[in-house]
Amino acid sequence: MSLLRTERLKKYFGETRAVDGVDFSVNEGEFLSLVGTNGAGKTTLVNLISAFLSPDSGRIFIADRDITYAPVDERIRAGIARSFQLVNLFDDLSVLDNVALAIFARDGKSKRILALAERDTAVTQEATELLGEFGLGGKAQALAGGLAQGERKLLDVAVAYALRPKLLFLDEPTSGVSTRDKAQIMDIVSSVVRGGRITAVVIEHDMDVVFKYSDRVVVMHEGRFLADGPPEEIRRNRDVATYLLGTDVAA
Ligand SMILES: Nc1ncnc2c1ncn2[C@@H]1O[C@H](COP(=O)(O)OP(=O)(O)OP(=O)(O)O)[C@@H](O)[C@H]1O
Ligand SMILES: [Mg+2]
Repeated sequence: MSLLRTERLKKYFGETRAVDGVDFSVNEGEFLSLVGTNGAGKTTLVNLISAFLSPDSGRIFIADRDITYAPVDERIRAGIARSFQLVNLFDDLSVLDNVALAIFARDGKSKRILALAERDTAVTQEATELLGEFGLGGKAQALAGGLAQGERKLLDVAVAYALRPKLLFLDEPTSGVSTRDKAQIMDIVSSVVRGGRITAVVIEHDMDVVFKYSDRVVVMHEGRFLADGPPEEIRRNRDVATYLLGTDVAA
């Protein structure tokens, strides 16, 4: 069943057709990868779905509800959360407080943000457990700004996950980390996502990672969808090889 759907979604920046009439559909429970070369329109598509941008035209539906122009908080309540290509953390707060803030925001306890020191034990406990799931238990009291890049990427995902979304968008959760750290991050992310039975859309450049973890792969090129299918089918797709991998499979 489709959890999220877009209809002819469009966003141009001047002459740039960032998202050019996209029909996107995400099925409940799948781990989907969104791939494409730099500037293909991946982040713009996620920005449109998560209310960081307004489309020029087209519609966005979650279940059967039209959320095309719904504000961010309403989309979060509808079950959509995201992480960022460039992490979006409070560097001067502890790792634990970064997650606690997301929990407070989710529960509508925004006044409590002013008094984090007095936060209730339920929130501390939930944040602690969640950090454990992401392998960051030992870093709870460290400042977010002092973490290594891989840990920062994981914390950014944990903050989005703390909103308890139905549908989680991860914009390059492994960018800027070594190949070894990539595998570790993706192992953690996929086990949390699959264990929590949530649906995930991951933007990723490393095709080894994409083929290993995804149920389905959607390939974007110049604002449009070039291919959409299971990893083994995408691996054999000639257009994908030409545009994305810079090689011709037949050659
Ligand atoms: N705010 C903006 N103003 C003007 N142009 C933009 C803006 N955001 C994106 N673009 C342009 O839209 C196109 C799509 O950008 P987008 O960031 O969505 O690509 P992407 O697939 O996420 O690329 P990358 O893999 O490099 O992150 C690019 O040509 C980009 O320069
Ligand atoms: Mg991007």
